[in-house]
Amino acid sequence: MVLGDAVVAEKLVKRFVTKKRTGLLRSYSEVVEALRGVSLNVGAGEVVGLLGPNGAGKTTTIKILSTLLLPDSGYASIYGYDVVREASEVRKLIGIMLTVEKGFYGRLTGRENLVYFGSLYGMERRELERRVDHLLDLVGLKELGGADRLYEEYSLGMKARLALARALLKDPPVLLLDEPTLGLDPPSARKIRSLVREMASKEGKSVLYTSHNMFEVELVCDRVILINKGVIVAEGTPERLKSMLPDVRAIEVYSKQPPGSLAEEVAKLGLEVREQNQVQEGLYVLKILARRPDEVVGDIMKIAVSRGIDIVRMKVEEPTLEDVFIYFTERGVRDREVH
Ligand SMILES: Nc1ncnc2c1ncn2[C@@H]1O[C@H](COP(=O)(O)OP(=O)(O)OP(=O)(O)O)[C@@H](O)[C@H]1O
Ligand SMILES: [Mg+2]
Repeated sequence: MVLGDAVVAEKLVKRFVTKKRTGLLRSYSEVVEALRGVSLNVGAGEVVGLLGPNGAGKTTTIKILSTLLLPDSGYASIYGYDVVREASEVRKLIGIMLTVEKGFYGRLTGRENLVYFGSLYGMERRELERRVDHLLDLVGLKELGGADRLYEEYSLGMKARLALARALLKDPPVLLLDEPTLGLDPPSARKIRSLVREMASKEGKSVLYTSHNMFEVELVCDRVILINKGVIVAEGTPERLKSMLPDVRAIEVYSKQPPGSLAEEVAKLGLEVREQNQVQEGLYVLKILARRPDEVVGDIMKIAVSRGIDIVRMKVEEPTLEDVFIYFTERGVRDREVH
C-alpha cells in the first residue's frame, strides 16, 4: 500500500460559459461557477463519498481529478502527480466510472470491449485475457450471462458492471466513481457497493465516490464530503456530521389511551407537540419535538402515569444522513441569501 494522500484537491475553481437562448435568434452568454475553491483529500485505502444536490459540482470535480477537464485555477494531484502537468502519470493510477459511459462498442461483447480497452492501455495480450476473465467474474457479468453477449443488448446493471470492470483493468490504486449505482436494481447496486468496500479494505484502494443514495453512502463511505453550489459545506464521518445537526429530535410516544391530556401537559413543559393520531384500535401515537430527548423522556413517563395513560412504547428518532444533507444544503442557500 502506498502511503500519503491518494487524492488531493486544493482550491479548485471551474467556470463554464454557457449560452442562454432568449428568442429564436437571440442569446446571451452566462458564466456558471461550477467549482468555487474546492479542497479535499482522500487517504490511502479510504472510501470518501462526495454528496450534493444536482448541479453542485460533483461530476466536475471527478472530471478534473480524472484529467478529463482542466481547472481554471487551483491544484489537484493523484499520489503527488499533478493532474494538469503530469496527466499521463495520473491516468496510470486511476480507474474512472462516469454516469454517461461512452466508448463501449455495441457490436462487441463485454469481454471483447474489455480486451480492446486493455490493448489500448498497452497491456500484454495473455495477461490481459486472464485479467479480463477474472474481472468479468468479479463484477458478476459471467453469472448474469453477459460476458459474451453484445454490449448493445446489455441492461443498465450489466453496463455498470462492465464500466466498473473497465475501471479496474489496470488494477489502479485510485478509483474515481461518479454515481456508479445510478438506476441499478438492488442486487446490482449491492454488488457494486460490496466490491468498492472490499477493494478499499482488502487491497487498500482509495475511492472517491458520488451518489444521491444516502443509505448507500452510509454503508460504503468512511467519510463524507458535502458540496453545494461549488463549495464544500461540511465534511466528516456520517456520525460526526449527524452530531453537528441541531439537537432537535422527534419522540414518539405510543399509548393505549388517547394522549390528549399528556399532550397538554407536555406543551406546558415547553416541548412542541407535532401530532397525535390513532394508529389502530386501542393504540395511539403522540409525536413530540425535544431539544434533548434523554432529559425529558422521564418527565413524559411521569405525566403519563399521573394521567392514567399506559405507555406501550417510546421511540426517539435518530437523525439520518438525509437530514444532514438537507440541513447543510439549505443552510448554505440561506447563508448566501443573507450576504
Ligand atoms: N460542459 C458544461 N457547460 C456548461 N455548464 C456546465 C458544464 N458541465 C457542468 N456545467 C454546470 O456546472 C455545474 C456543476 O455541474 P456538475 O455536473 O458538476 O454537477 P453534479 O454535482 O455532478 O450534479 P448531478 O447530481 O446532477 O450530477 C452545473 O451548474 C452545470 O450546469
Ligand atoms: Mg453529476
